[in-house]
Amino acid sequence: NKEKTLAIIKPDGLLGNYTDDIKKTILESGFCILKEKRVQLDEDTVASFYAEHSSKNFFASLIKYMTSGSVLVMILEKENAIADWRALMGPTDARKAKTTHPHSIRAMCGLDTERNCVHGSDSIKSAQREISFFFRELSADVVTEHD
Ligand code: CMP
Repeated sequence: NKEKTLAIIKPDGLLGNYTDDIKKTILESGFCILKEKRVQLDEDTVASFYAEHSSKNFFASLIKYMTSGSVLVMILEKENAIADWRALMGPTDARKAKTTHPHSIRAMCGLDTERNCVHGSDSIKSAQREISFFFRELSADVVTEHD
């Protein structure tokens, strides 16, 4: 079963020149990058993308961070893409990632719980939502394909 997930290289990833390394790691791990686009997000777009975090104490800071520079949004595809991309990213807290998952992308490129360099959908449902959020021309039902 091929699966699609949404990946984002966040502003700290682009500004830190980690994009090529991250994409190389993605491809070497067996993902196809089906689509990608670089976008400068505005506050409303980030607030709506991260709506589930709107009541969190870090929400304002998250909006500031995610609008601090452009991001690279990608659709990744492979078998088990959602879980595998999350495993490749490592834990949310990049400081923790450095000790527990030293080869993960967040260990290599991230700084802390907020500036963690990359994003990945956490379930089939959020992958469908997040892919159609950024790539409206793709209908939600193409996210999971069964062969
Ligand atoms: P992400 O996986 O994209 O989902 C929500 C984002 O909010 C997360 O990565 C971090 O960038 C940020 N985040 C999550 N938890 C915290 C926290 N405790 N403090 C600050 N930022 C956080």
